[in-house]
Amino acid sequence: MSKVIALGVSGGIAAYKAAALTSMLHKNGYEVHVLMTRNATEFVSPLTFETLSNNRVSVDTFDRNFEYNVQHIALAKKADLFVVAPATANVIAKFACGIADDMLTTTFLACRCQKLICPAMNTGMLENPATQQNIETLRRRGMKFLDAENGLLACGDTGKGRLAEPEEIFDYIEELLSPKPMAGLKVLVTAGPTQESMDPVRFLSNHSSGKMGYALAKQARNLGAEVTLVSGKVALAPLRGVQMVSITSAAEMAKAVKDAFPAQDITIKAAAVADYTFAETSPEKIKKGEGELTLSLKRTEDILRSLGQMARPDQVLCGFAMETQNLLENARKKLEGKHADMIVANSLREAGAGFGTDTNRVTLITQQGTEPLELMEKEEVAREILRRCLAILEKKRGK
Ligand code: CTP
Repeated sequence: MSKVIALGVSGGIAAYKAAALTSMLHKNGYEVHVLMTRNATEFVSPLTFETLSNNRVSVDTFDRNFEYNVQHIALAKKADLFVVAPATANVIAKFACGIADDMLTTTFLACRCQKLICPAMNTGMLENPATQQNIETLRRRGMKFLDAENGLLACGDTGKGRLAEPEEIFDYIEELLSPKPMAGLKVLVTAGPTQESMDPVRFLSNHSSGKMGYALAKQARNLGAEVTLVSGKVALAPLRGVQMVSITSAAEMAKAVKDAFPAQDITIKAAAVADYTFAETSPEKIKKGEGELTLSLKRTEDILRSLGQMARPDQVLCGFAMETQNLLENARKKLEGKHADMIVANSLREAGAGFGTDTNRVTLITQQGTEPLELMEKEEVAREILRRCLAILEKKRGK
């Protein structure tokens, strides 16, 4: 059954972003019911939201027929989440005081479900102690806030007050509505490539985009885990609600991961770590000469192997294996040799799998057997991997 979202839209120029959010939610299978303040209708027409949500929009409490009003009391009961985006200083103040003088504020007050408020306003209004105190009051009552961002505001000022982007709001909604089987667990994920410096100008690296590791960290967060993501340099935005640790080289990754590892319940090594680094890094730029240049490389630490040696029996360790040939045989060797509980094997030769793609086709290798998964989105692959890790953890802990 689809989840029901009550989306309150109050009067600010950012109301147009709520239209994009409505479309995103509807396309992803949510049932969206939009409630607008009268001021919001000055910025975007209710017809826009009615078309995008496929549901009627409500504005005033008393200007529609009786049957419709009853339906809206029903909305307060059936909503799984009440989102207010954009939330002006005015509606936030009303929420804090319990004022209910239109359809949006009335339904908000009647609703017992989780609430997510996304403020958008002029910086002065946001920073005003009255607004700050109202936000604090609502936070204390358990309401979630997605902070306004810094940037150029419609009034011409530059500062904090821009509504978070629709993708960010959508991401938070997905987190809030996700079941939390990993609540109370700590999950460490590594992602992206490492870079080994040759001199101050050049480095040795690989094509890892970090997408698989970021998908794992995000899904683990959504499932309720406390997540640390140790990431090499990637073109992806940092993840909200995840402790981000940024590293460059394999040696830096080894240190960050080994420091964090003892506190973890589940560790997943999705990073593409360099196996070799330069025997010497030149402090100055290496100038070109006439003949060939020979550079000497030395091995880096195999971090997964070190973790396999450090691991306690109540911890779960999962590695990846990226191969171009003999996928399953090589992956099983990594499982045994590195003392991991699971290896996620993927082949660079497979269409839709590997570096930079949004999809992946993997085979999960454990002591119990070999399980090939279908080609699917990396987000979905991530959920499958986490589900298996959780099952292994529960088995180890006798649950
Ligand atoms: N890995 C690691 N430290 C390294 C190299 C790899 O922790 N120095 C981890 C990766 O994060 C991954 C797993 O080991 O989880 C396998 O990585 P992969 O590059 O497929 O294999 P290697 O072990 O490096 O072996 P080979 O290069 O011979 O395939």
